[in-house]
Amino acid sequence: MSKLFFLIGFMGSGKSTMGHAVADEMGITFLDLDEWIEKREGKSIKNIFEEKGEAYFRQLESSLLKALTFLPEAKYLVATGGGTPCFEDNMKWMNAHGTTIYLKPTIQVLGERLIADRDKRPLLKGTKPTDIQQFIHTLLQQREAFYLQARHTLTAEDLAPNKLIQLIKMQIGG
Ligand code: S3P
Repeated sequence: MSKLFFLIGFMGSGKSTMGHAVADEMGITFLDLDEWIEKREGKSIKNIFEEKGEAYFRQLESSLLKALTFLPEAKYLVATGGGTPCFEDNMKWMNAHGTTIYLKPTIQVLGERLIADRDKRPLLKGTKPTDIQQFIHTLLQQREAFYLQARHTLTAEDLAPNKLIQLIKMQIGG
Protein backbone atom coordinates (compact mmCIF):
# COMPACT_ATOMS: atom_id res chain seq x y z
CA MET A 1 0.00 0.00 0.00
CA SER A 2 1.13 3.54 -0.72
CA LYS A 3 1.93 5.89 2.11
CA LEU A 4 0.17 9.20 1.62
CA PHE A 5 1.02 12.38 3.51
CA PHE A 6 -1.40 15.26 3.02
CA LEU A 7 -0.42 18.86 3.66
CA ILE A 8 -3.48 20.90 4.42
CA GLY A 9 -4.03 24.52 5.39
CA PHE A 10 -5.03 27.96 4.22
CA MET A 11 -3.86 29.50 0.94
CA GLY A 12 -0.31 30.75 1.45
CA SER A 13 0.49 28.37 4.30
CA GLY A 14 3.43 26.86 2.39
CA LYS A 15 1.88 23.54 1.37
CA SER A 16 3.40 23.62 -2.11
CA THR A 17 6.67 25.41 -1.38
CA MET A 18 7.63 23.51 1.74
CA GLY A 19 6.12 20.26 0.46
CA HIS A 20 8.20 20.38 -2.68
CA ALA A 21 11.45 21.07 -0.82
CA VAL A 22 10.81 18.40 1.82
CA ALA A 23 9.81 15.71 -0.68
CA ASP A 24 12.97 16.41 -2.71
CA GLU A 25 15.15 16.20 0.35
CA MET A 26 13.54 12.96 1.50
CA GLY A 27 13.51 11.38 -1.95
CA ILE A 28 9.76 10.83 -1.92
CA THR A 29 7.29 11.82 -4.62
CA PHE A 30 5.69 15.24 -4.40
CA LEU A 31 2.24 15.87 -5.83
CA ASP A 32 0.42 19.17 -6.00
CA LEU A 33 -3.31 18.70 -6.32
CA ASP A 34 -3.86 22.16 -7.85
CA GLU A 35 -1.18 21.51 -10.45
CA TRP A 36 -2.69 18.14 -11.24
CA ILE A 37 -6.09 19.78 -11.78
CA GLU A 38 -4.54 22.43 -14.04
CA LYS A 39 -2.78 19.79 -16.15
CA ARG A 40 -5.88 17.70 -16.42
CA GLU A 41 -8.01 20.67 -17.55
CA GLY A 42 -5.30 22.39 -19.56
CA LYS A 43 -6.00 25.71 -17.84
CA SER A 44 -5.18 27.63 -14.71
CA ILE A 45 -7.24 27.31 -11.52
CA LYS A 46 -8.24 30.94 -12.04
CA ASN A 47 -9.63 30.14 -15.51
CA ILE A 48 -11.38 26.99 -14.32
CA PHE A 49 -13.21 29.06 -11.68
CA GLU A 50 -14.08 31.74 -14.22
CA GLU A 51 -15.17 29.46 -17.03
CA LYS A 52 -16.69 26.48 -15.23
CA GLY A 53 -17.42 27.73 -11.74
CA GLU A 54 -16.40 26.70 -8.25
CA ALA A 55 -18.79 23.73 -8.01
CA TYR A 56 -17.13 22.12 -11.04
CA PHE A 57 -13.70 22.75 -9.55
CA ARG A 58 -14.70 21.20 -6.21
CA GLN A 59 -15.98 18.03 -7.90
CA LEU A 60 -12.82 17.63 -9.90
CA GLU A 61 -10.69 18.34 -6.83
CA SER A 62 -12.45 15.63 -4.84
CA SER A 63 -12.34 13.03 -7.59
CA LEU A 64 -8.66 13.60 -8.35
CA LEU A 65 -7.86 13.43 -4.64
CA LYS A 66 -9.51 10.05 -4.42
CA ALA A 67 -7.75 8.85 -7.56
CA LEU A 68 -4.50 8.94 -5.57
CA THR A 69 -5.22 5.39 -4.46
CA PHE A 70 -4.70 4.25 -8.06
CA LEU A 71 -1.11 5.49 -8.28
CA PRO A 72 1.76 2.99 -8.21
CA GLU A 73 2.72 1.96 -4.71
CA ALA A 74 5.14 4.53 -3.22
CA LYS A 75 5.42 7.27 -0.63
CA TYR A 76 3.73 10.51 -1.65
CA LEU A 77 3.70 13.95 -0.13
CA VAL A 78 0.60 15.70 -1.40
CA ALA A 79 -0.02 19.45 -1.26
CA THR A 80 -3.79 19.95 -1.27
CA GLY A 81 -5.64 23.18 -2.08
CA GLY A 82 -6.74 25.46 0.75
CA GLY A 83 -10.35 24.39 0.32
CA THR A 84 -9.78 20.66 -0.23
CA PRO A 85 -10.46 19.55 3.38
CA CYS A 86 -13.63 21.67 3.57
CA PHE A 87 -15.66 20.14 0.75
CA GLU A 88 -17.32 16.78 0.15
CA ASP A 89 -16.00 14.13 2.54
CA ASN A 90 -12.39 14.96 1.61
CA MET A 91 -11.09 15.46 5.14
CA LYS A 92 -12.54 12.20 6.33
CA TRP A 93 -11.18 10.46 3.25
CA MET A 94 -7.67 11.85 3.74
CA ASN A 95 -7.66 10.77 7.38
CA ALA A 96 -8.76 7.29 6.36
CA HIS A 97 -6.12 6.95 3.62
CA GLY A 98 -3.05 8.69 4.96
CA THR A 99 -1.53 11.12 7.42
CA THR A 100 -2.86 14.68 7.45
CA ILE A 101 -0.64 17.55 8.52
CA TYR A 102 -2.05 21.04 9.08
CA LEU A 103 0.37 23.90 8.33
CA LYS A 104 -0.68 26.85 10.43
CA PRO A 105 1.30 30.08 10.10
CA THR A 106 0.03 33.27 11.73
CA ILE A 107 -2.66 35.31 10.00
CA GLN A 108 -0.11 38.06 9.56
CA VAL A 109 2.26 35.82 7.62
CA LEU A 110 -0.61 34.49 5.51
CA GLY A 111 -1.65 38.07 4.78
CA GLU A 112 1.81 39.11 3.63
CA ARG A 113 2.09 36.13 1.30
CA LEU A 114 -1.39 36.48 -0.13
CA ILE A 115 -1.08 40.19 -0.84
CA ALA A 116 1.99 39.36 -2.89
CA ASP A 117 0.28 36.87 -5.19
CA ARG A 118 -3.42 37.46 -4.85
CA ASP A 119 -3.94 37.60 -8.63
CA LYS A 120 -3.48 33.84 -8.92
CA ARG A 121 -6.19 33.04 -6.42
CA PRO A 122 -9.80 33.25 -7.52
CA LEU A 123 -11.16 33.47 -3.98
CA LEU A 124 -9.20 36.68 -3.43
CA LYS A 125 -10.52 38.35 -6.55
CA GLY A 126 -11.59 41.90 -5.77
CA THR A 127 -10.23 41.86 -2.20
CA LYS A 128 -8.31 45.05 -1.45
CA PRO A 129 -4.87 44.60 0.17
CA THR A 130 -6.18 46.42 3.26
CA ASP A 131 -9.02 43.88 3.59
CA ILE A 132 -6.90 40.75 3.27
CA GLN A 133 -6.32 40.17 7.00
CA GLN A 134 -10.06 40.42 7.65
CA PHE A 135 -10.81 38.10 4.73
CA ILE A 136 -8.38 35.50 6.10
CA HIS A 137 -9.77 35.81 9.60
CA THR A 138 -13.36 35.25 8.47
CA LEU A 139 -12.66 32.34 6.11
CA LEU A 140 -10.27 30.69 8.57
CA GLN A 141 -13.00 30.74 11.20
CA GLN A 142 -15.21 28.68 8.89
CA ARG A 143 -12.42 26.38 7.77
CA GLU A 144 -10.55 25.63 10.93
CA ALA A 145 -13.15 23.10 12.04
CA PHE A 146 -11.92 21.01 9.12
CA TYR A 147 -8.22 21.83 9.33
CA LEU A 148 -8.16 20.90 13.01
CA GLN A 149 -9.24 17.37 12.19
CA ALA A 150 -5.70 16.83 10.89
CA ARG A 151 -3.67 14.18 12.68
CA HIS A 152 -0.80 16.65 13.19
CA THR A 153 -0.51 20.43 13.27
CA LEU A 154 2.64 22.46 12.69
CA THR A 155 2.05 25.90 14.16
CA ALA A 156 4.10 29.03 13.39
CA GLU A 157 7.00 28.19 15.70
CA ASP A 158 7.35 24.66 14.26
CA LEU A 159 6.76 25.54 10.66
CA ALA A 160 10.12 24.59 9.23
CA PRO A 161 11.15 21.92 6.71
CA ASN A 162 13.18 19.98 9.29
CA LYS A 163 10.11 19.68 11.57
CA LEU A 164 8.04 18.33 8.72
CA ILE A 165 10.81 15.89 7.82
CA GLN A 166 10.96 14.67 11.43
CA LEU A 167 7.23 14.17 11.51
CA ILE A 168 7.15 12.18 8.28
CA LYS A 169 10.15 10.09 9.32
CA MET A 170 8.37 9.21 12.53
CA GLN A 171 5.46 7.85 10.52
CA ILE A 172 7.56 5.85 8.10
CA GLY A 173 9.92 4.61 10.74
CA GLY A 174 13.02 6.23 9.23
C1 S3P B 1 -8.45 27.48 -2.75
C2 S3P B 1 -7.06 27.41 -2.64
C3 S3P B 1 -6.19 27.25 -3.79
C4 S3P B 1 -6.92 26.59 -4.97
C5 S3P B 1 -8.17 27.32 -5.25
C6 S3P B 1 -9.13 27.36 -4.06
C7 S3P B 1 -9.26 27.63 -1.52
O1 S3P B 1 -5.05 26.45 -3.43
O2 S3P B 1 -7.17 25.25 -4.72
O3 S3P B 1 -7.83 28.62 -5.64
O4 S3P B 1 -10.47 27.37 -1.57
O5 S3P B 1 -8.68 28.00 -0.47
P1 S3P B 1 -3.83 27.00 -2.53
O6 S3P B 1 -4.19 26.80 -1.10
O7 S3P B 1 -2.70 26.14 -2.96
O8 S3P B 1 -3.65 28.44 -2.88
